[in-house]
Amino acid sequence: MTDKYAVIGHPISHSKSPLIHKMFAEQSGQDMSYVAIEAPLDGFAATVQRLRAEGYKGCNVTVPFKHEAFKLATQHSGRARAAHAVNTLIFEGDEILGDNTDGVGLVADIETNLGCKFLFKRVLLMGAGGAAHGVIWHLFNAGAAIIISNRSMDKAEQLAAEFEGYGTVFAKSYAALAGQQFDIVINATSSGLADELPPLPEGIFKPGALAYDMMYGKQTPFLRFAQQHGAATLADGLGMLVEQAAVAFEKWRGVQPDTAPVIAKLRQS
Ligand code: ATR
Repeated sequence: MTDKYAVIGHPISHSKSPLIHKMFAEQSGQDMSYVAIEAPLDGFAATVQRLRAEGYKGCNVTVPFKHEAFKLATQHSGRARAAHAVNTLIFEGDEILGDNTDGVGLVADIETNLGCKFLFKRVLLMGAGGAAHGVIWHLFNAGAAIIISNRSMDKAEQLAAEFEGYGTVFAKSYAALAGQQFDIVINATSSGLADELPPLPEGIFKPGALAYDMMYGKQTPFLRFAQQHGAATLADGLGMLVEQAAVAFEKWRGVQPDTAPVIAKLRQS
């Protein structure tokens, strides 16, 4: 029997996840389906319960439901706890297992696909919302020293305080970055959605630096800025999207998919 999976979000029509999981399933000969479902904004829990009743094995969860998914899960992985958010649910009997594969997906894309290691690197993480919170634990695990910058300083300070036990972390305003340089600059803000650029000072990219935007699908003002101001490598979040999907797929199916051909295919299209 075909095993059923889904991704739940609002909106969801833009999602590439069904295509990604279809490619993973074909590659590894898995008998499974994967569909995109738009839940009403007040109907996430009801949608999950419907899927469970219909025999689905699990689902991915995207904006704006990752916190709700965290609350709904009956068990959480350590990385889901660190993120306070869940992007992967596994339905097992009466239990709903909650995992978060965003951070491991980001690190895999940067370290494996882009060949840039985090160990002892100075990393600027821009943003202190859900996207930044979802990945920061993995940046520490990979050995990075982290500066968090955010428009609202209180949120940057809160995030830094929450993670100060994990490694080197400071919160700084954008203006206070003047004169500082970083090996890796990650844009985890939603500024690209509005075609805006966080107020970064010039000169923040070390020679050889990587500029990474967690958004994908368009060249953001941040990546244009990075290109004009000396970043050696520019990357959008498409690789992260595929890598986080691969970890979810592996949790569900016990098979590790090959991400490189999937990323290449998505880039072509
Ligand atoms: P997400 O889940 O995408 O992280 P979020 O939790 O609403 O969404 O957080 C959005 C983040 O992008 C915040 O860090 C926000 O900064 P503020 O906390 O100061 O609002 C940041 N952000 C959004 N638009 C931005 C812009 N134009 N310039 C800089 N930061 C921006």
